[in-house]
Amino acid sequence: MSSDSGRLVVRPSEGLHGEVPIAGAKNSVLKLMAATVLAEGTHVLHNVPDLTDVTDMAELLSAMGLVVTREGATLTIERPADIVPEAPYELVERMRASIVVLGPLLAKVGEARVAVPGGDDFGHRPIDMHLASLESLGARFTSSHGFIQGRADQLHGTSVVLDFPSVGATENLLMAAVLAKGTTTIDNAAREPEIADLASMLNRMGAQVVGAGSSTIEIEGVAELTPVEHTVIPDRIEAATFLAAVGVAGGEVTLLGARADHMDMLIQKLGTMGMRISPTPEGVWAMSKGELRSTDISTLPYPGVATDYKPLLVAMLTVADGIGIVTENIFGGRFRYISELVRMGADIRTEGHHAVVRGIPALSGAPVRASDIRAGAALVIAGIRAEGETLISGAGHLDRGYERFDEKLRDIGVDVTRLP
Ligand code: EPU
Repeated sequence: MSSDSGRLVVRPSEGLHGEVPIAGAKNSVLKLMAATVLAEGTHVLHNVPDLTDVTDMAELLSAMGLVVTREGATLTIERPADIVPEAPYELVERMRASIVVLGPLLAKVGEARVAVPGGDDFGHRPIDMHLASLESLGARFTSSHGFIQGRADQLHGTSVVLDFPSVGATENLLMAAVLAKGTTTIDNAAREPEIADLASMLNRMGAQVVGAGSSTIEIEGVAELTPVEHTVIPDRIEAATFLAAVGVAGGEVTLLGARADHMDMLIQKLGTMGMRISPTPEGVWAMSKGELRSTDISTLPYPGVATDYKPLLVAMLTVADGIGIVTENIFGGRFRYISELVRMGADIRTEGHHAVVRGIPALSGAPVRASDIRAGAALVIAGIRAEGETLISGAGHLDRGYERFDEKLRDIGVDVTRLP
């Protein structure tokens, strides 16, 4: 099924209650899967969410000659001695995150041929930082016919200062530097919990990475890595999505397995908006009366408010009391879902990177289209507080990043149905 197919019908829902299990983090597991390229043998990943992005990454690894099998939430990845160091266009086009095989392929195989990812709804998404930082380790690139061809006989550690704390560039560099000769220092590194998860897996494989999760990461290259067994961290964006659902609907829900310490700024913001959220031994507990107050939001690299939370927060602001100014600082685009919210009666004006959202008591259900994963999630949140029926097409996008999304929502009381 393509991401553009599939529909969800959402009807107004109040008083959510119960428990919802939070799956492993999409933005972690995709990189952990790529990291298995670095060591021959059998790797085992636990807490792997069942998502089309994961299936696509498995397909990419299979195309390279690795053997990926799933049993429940466990993936076993056999990395043979010889692999084909290539990421074809058809897969990169489907999932931009495929670009993270570049670093491990150059470090381990010494060559890589990877299709150049195109732009998307977020705007033009360059990979210049990925390439420049790998070049500073000694890789050489040429590009033709839509592909980047990379070569590296032996990578050498060096100091890299990233222009911006890019998540993907930090990950590619990290996965290349672990097998480079000597020491690599990454300054202005991305600090997302997914980077720390990747470093923790690499260290278990025998790498020597210190400082991941902070803005300076130091990597002492080693000659060889060994296969690993690793459990993926919980998905903070999936958790945020259920928090947003409770926020607009009201109710009391526990997010099983979620990590409050990965969502500090978000929890603070949602507190300002009137929700009560606290960590428990099982995960994160959240309560809302369904009456939200507006606040201003500005997206920033971690530990700031993640750009992936923004569509959810905008959907919440459409029904909050007052006016909220939302500023996007990470991506050039990423406002397309706003026209869909406006079709549902939301009062939103956009100007460049800013959106001004004036809350109204309730939206009005309408047919709308999801243009990406988080846009789709925002429309579901909006549908919970919209009179009548909200018919969301393009719901296949949600399956890229959410496991059993409609089922989990139904379990806590959201009136949502999936149509073919
Ligand atoms: N950038 C460059 N040059 C580069 C790399 C990035 O200019 O070489 C720019 C980007 O265009 C953007 C900014 O730097 O303006 C940040 O991009 P970053 O590299 O941090 O993002 P990413 O690694 O491509 C990941 C997540 C996104 C999430 C962003 C920001 C994955 C698979 N994707 O993307 O998640 O929005 O970090 O936190 O990890 C999602 O899950 O739906 C999603 C899109």
